[in-house]
Amino acid sequence: MIRRGVEEGNILTHSADSASFCLSLLLLLFFLSVSLFVDRFLYAMRLHDDQLRDISARFQAEMKKGLSAESNAAATLKMLPTHVCSTPDGSENGEFLAVDLGGSKFKVLQVKVRKEAGRVRRSVEMQEQTYPLPKELLIGRGVELFDHVSECLKDFLLQKKISLEKKHPLGFTFSFPCQQTALNQGLLLNWSKNYWARGLQGKDMVNTLRQAISRGMDVDVLALVNDTVGTMMTCGFDDQHCEVGLIIGTGTNACYMEELRHIDLVEGDEGRMCVNTEWGAFGDDGALDDYLTEFDRDIDAASINPGKQCLEKMVSGLYLGELVRLVVLKMTKLGLLFDGRVTDALRTKGKITTAHVAAMEQYKDGLKNTRDILLDLSLNPSPDDCIAVQHVCTVVSFRSSNLVAAGLAAILTRIRQNRKLKTLRITVGVDGTVYKTHPQYAKRLHKVVRRLVPDCHVRFVLSESGSSKGAAMVTAVAQRVTARRHQSLSSFRLSRDQLRSVKARMRAGLEAGLKSNSHSPVKMLPSYVFRTPDGTECGKYLALDLGGTNFRVLLVKIRSGLRRSVRLYNKLYPIPLEIMQGTGEEKFLSFFFPSWKIWTKGFKATDCEGNDVVDMLREAIKRRNEFDVDIVAIVNDTVGTMMSCAYEDPQCEIGLIAGTGSNVCYMEELRNIEKNGLGEMQRMCINTEWGGLGEDGCLDDIITEYDNAVDRESINHGRQRFEKLTSGLYLGEVVRQVLLDLTRRGLLFKGRVTEALKTPGIFETKYLSQIESDRLALLQVRSILQHLGLDSTCDDSIIVKEVCGAVSRRAAQLCGAGMAAVVDKIRENRGLDQLNITVGVDGTLYKLHPHFSTVLQETVVALAPQCYVTYLLSEEGSGRGAALITAVARRDQVEM
Ligand code: BG6
Ligand code: BG6
Ligand code: GLC
Ligand code: GLC
Repeated sequence: MIRRGVEEGNILTHSADSASFCLSLLLLLFFLSVSLFVDRFLYAMRLHDDQLRDISARFQAEMKKGLSAESNAAATLKMLPTHVCSTPDGSENGEFLAVDLGGSKFKVLQVKVRKEAGRVRRSVEMQEQTYPLPKELLIGRGVELFDHVSECLKDFLLQKKISLEKKHPLGFTFSFPCQQTALNQGLLLNWSKNYWARGLQGKDMVNTLRQAISRGMDVDVLALVNDTVGTMMTCGFDDQHCEVGLIIGTGTNACYMEELRHIDLVEGDEGRMCVNTEWGAFGDDGALDDYLTEFDRDIDAASINPGKQCLEKMVSGLYLGELVRLVVLKMTKLGLLFDGRVTDALRTKGKITTAHVAAMEQYKDGLKNTRDILLDLSLNPSPDDCIAVQHVCTVVSFRSSNLVAAGLAAILTRIRQNRKLKTLRITVGVDGTVYKTHPQYAKRLHKVVRRLVPDCHVRFVLSESGSSKGAAMVTAVAQRVTARRHQSLSSFRLSRDQLRSVKARMRAGLEAGLKSNSHSPVKMLPSYVFRTPDGTECGKYLALDLGGTNFRVLLVKIRSGLRRSVRLYNKLYPIPLEIMQGTGEEKFLSFFFPSWKIWTKGFKATDCEGNDVVDMLREAIKRRNEFDVDIVAIVNDTVGTMMSCAYEDPQCEIGLIAGTGSNVCYMEELRNIEKNGLGEMQRMCINTEWGGLGEDGCLDDIITEYDNAVDRESINHGRQRFEKLTSGLYLGEVVRQVLLDLTRRGLLFKGRVTEALKTPGIFETKYLSQIESDRLALLQVRSILQHLGLDSTCDDSIIVKEVCGAVSRRAAQLCGAGMAAVVDKIRENRGLDQLNITVGVDGTLYKLHPHFSTVLQETVVALAPQCYVTYLLSEEGSGRGAALITAVARRDQVEM
């Protein structure tokens, strides 16, 4: 310490002549004696290497605690995942806006990253503007702080003549602890330094900025980065080994690249992610209590966040000057300085700043500066006083750099151990006014770090251009990824006008299908069901239910009168694929397949199309010769569903299936059905077979390349185009096609197209439904994907969820548009201004998917505002409805 004091006390000069040598020696002794007495007074602030190693070990333990999910809540080092997974790789490109809030200066910038012709490296051009940030805003209402930010941003755009028309991506350096689940989201955990704006804690800072950005500015906030991360990335632009970011400025903090497998709060095992340690809070649990002095306690007590940011208050620029003032005040009061004369200025908080400390420790002019500063405080310093005060500054600022060295040593050791290296070569990117402007801080820090971790070869790089250059790098990566993803997903987005037009096309399809000799792809098949049940039906019926996810055989007992009820006994049978797609001969023990003209969904048994299913079933039963049945009705599942629900609700005149397949039936006026030939009845249920819409190309404008791929690979190429956009059997396939494309473009699964991803049918409806569940944590999404053989990172899981969302939302909207066409048609048929009607619904997509039903219903409300539609879930399957149809037919026969 004494040696250090001498070296840094600026008085050691060499002179050949003995007179001046004696003078130097005298001065040295004089200086030493003053320094020694200060050293003794500030004994507790002078930390030797053993103590620093001890602090470093505590620090390492706390980092571990912060990384673990179980202990994170109790840890002082929050170890926040930043969702920055790599340092700049030279592929970054574009023009970005940046806002830098939280350091000593509030800045707005424009950063242009370009690849110059003929050069490998990219060039970066920056223009920046510092704006004042009145103190009242820091501790006022949060909304006002962000409004100010937004106004400054607008001013910047105007001043720099940056177009207001174009959309500008923005990177937001926000130098406070935020809990991030993605790059463009971050909940403010707590304020630090001198900020205490109300109403923002726990809020998403990206959203807050977005909301504040006033109209007339098209700015897209793409990334939120802590200043440490920005700094690491800024320095990483020039030095690929830069994997630590350090700030010693108004506040202090560090980030570093941690192995993903160690970050419990984020899913994923492979690769690394930058972790923001928020080390300023180290010691908040008392871990540094044995190193705290009365001055530290006074600083804390007088701060706006007592009990918080313990290390920061011992280290950073906001407090160093004040620490020096408190020490000098105390020494004066004890009569050790200025003959014990205390001035008002010396008693005033903030009168000695960190800039003063830096000036007092200048190499040449330090003592002179000290004298000037003390005179400014109305003190009358003697040469001893100046030396003593200068030495107080040295002890205080040295302790700061020593503590930073201890923290950094812990991080570097951790990185070295993570990578199982004997020696680690690494670069630390540093920023902050203390590090930059204090004349000796950097040198001391480097020296102590190298002493504490001799097995790490550390290079320190000063971030010359601030953290925004780095923030722009992060934004560039985010922009590239989102742009490509959006490009893929935007084709699934349908505007209100497009949906209206789908409704109109469905309506045209319905009308065309009703015509005799029509070639409409919407078949509009008569069901010969003329009325819904009225409760007078009775009997025992056997029903076979084929065509959905399960094949069911049921016995249905229907009672009428007072004990009116329907009881079901059923058994499920799986249908092996080879039978589903084999010959009808092998298969045919069935009577309940939806369409008897063409196979749909996954069915393609040969020799069936165009044959009478009832005959085929009758013959199949006869061949087996085991029992005797009378086949009374063949019923489509939509019709079965409608009938089953109508038994509960007489207003139910529509049946909807949103499951493996997609279809609707409804009660149509007989007068409109040209192909029926049954004059007297009023209505008949029509099985629309709406899944066929689009076979004539009428949906081509909304069909994407992914839908076409699914269609090409399906067993009924060119058929059922609407069904292929809307039903469970195909949605998973559409999702798979998008994922394949994103993977091939390197945006997913690390660009690896695995066998699992190439396997048709892996995304069954139930998985889509699970993945999209709002209650599911990303970890669970990841485990579903893993179960499907898809090894994903947390970012992959987010993308997969987004893709599923886009595909299923479109499906629900299209079904909604179709349904709007049906209800409006019924309303017009009946000449009503307002139609009240119930839709009986079945199908795994509708039942299991977390958002499908809501989106469908919302679309119907929007597109058919004159219809009030209620949705009734068919709880027991359409077999029950089939039996009811049979019972209705029986009764009607008896009556005739
Ligand atoms: C600046 C960075 O250079 O340094 C900021 O651009 C950062 O993002 C700041 O917060 C830290 O230093 P200080 O001293 O301004 O707090
Ligand atoms: C069942 C009905 O509940 O739902 C079937 O009983 C129908 O007749 C099926 O086909 C539709 O849903 P999914 O999702 O099984 O195709
Ligand atoms: C404070 C903030 C932290 C920031 C540091 C340096 O410690 O909490 O997020 O990095 O100051 O500005
Ligand atoms: C298919 C069938 C149709 C059935 C629907 C729902 O679209 O063609 O008849 O109603 O799937 O299962």
